[in-house]
Amino acid sequence: MSVSPVDTHQIRKAVVPAAGLGTRFLPATKAMPKEMLPVVDKPAIQYVVEEAVEAGLTDLLMVTGRSKRSIEDHFDRAYELEEALRMKNDTQRLHAVRETSALANVHYVRQGEPRGLGHAVLCAEPHVGAEPFAVLLSDDLIGGDLLNEDATLLKRMIQVRQERGGSVIALMEVPPEQVSLYGCAAIDGTETADVVTVTDLVEKPAPDEAPSRWAVIGRYVCDPAVFDVLRDTAPGRGGEIQLTDALRELAQREPSEGGPVYGVLFRGRRFDTGNKIDYLRTVIEYAVDRPDLGPELLPWLREFVRQRG
Ligand code: G1P
Repeated sequence: MSVSPVDTHQIRKAVVPAAGLGTRFLPATKAMPKEMLPVVDKPAIQYVVEEAVEAGLTDLLMVTGRSKRSIEDHFDRAYELEEALRMKNDTQRLHAVRETSALANVHYVRQGEPRGLGHAVLCAEPHVGAEPFAVLLSDDLIGGDLLNEDATLLKRMIQVRQERGGSVIALMEVPPEQVSLYGCAAIDGTETADVVTVTDLVEKPAPDEAPSRWAVIGRYVCDPAVFDVLRDTAPGRGGEIQLTDALRELAQREPSEGGPVYGVLFRGRRFDTGNKIDYLRTVIEYAVDRPDLGPELLPWLREFVRQRG
């Protein structure tokens, strides 16, 4: 039987690492994964899944760890709850509950040991195989992109991969004092304003060692060659196997060997839910933007600030 070659241009799969310990949110995350922390009325990870689906990725693999059962339950049917809502004729909530299980084909693999983002991505190899794939970090919620108003960041990244091959990372300019919180890229411009060639990458550099102020944010489109590289990638920053280090290697390679790496410059809104203060900001901004909550919340917020400020 002949096997048709994988269409390297079609991207269907998304990998969502969700095995972090969530220590910054203890004790809330003792028995609950940080990815399930609500942003208004949806868990953070649901926004990320919706973004992937919106970009045309219908096959999702979550790389989970211990205490992550509730993620699986969230994206599964909940018959008892659905029945209770049906009995009450609460169609709106019934729809909200059902929607999460119908979003996409969600698969799970366990990471076992928390050996870093690169290792989490490597755990996806048996599922992903030899296809290009996206990686979405659920700590990062991405709002509209001001440069490409008609395309979300992830859609744009997929488009760049389809046009140019290689891997694609998302880059956002940050103040110099914040560079050490991110992967950081050295870049060369291309003929397209929002696309650059990545010439070097450093994971969480000291401010004086940073090659630029362009920070890697949590969306990637990877060539499957990244798996071979990750297998040989030694632990880096923090003693963990870093995706940044594997992409650095791919950035030096020819297209025939899985290179190069492009960057899409993102100037839209990114929300961090990975630490307490940014998480609170995210919840407030999302709530203020909601037509059902904003009109009531915003005047209250103004009054609150006036009294406390
Ligand atoms: C990870 C990546 C880093 C990237 C960041 C974006 O770091 O390793 O390169 O800049 O996500 O959020 P983490 O925040 O998981 O430590």
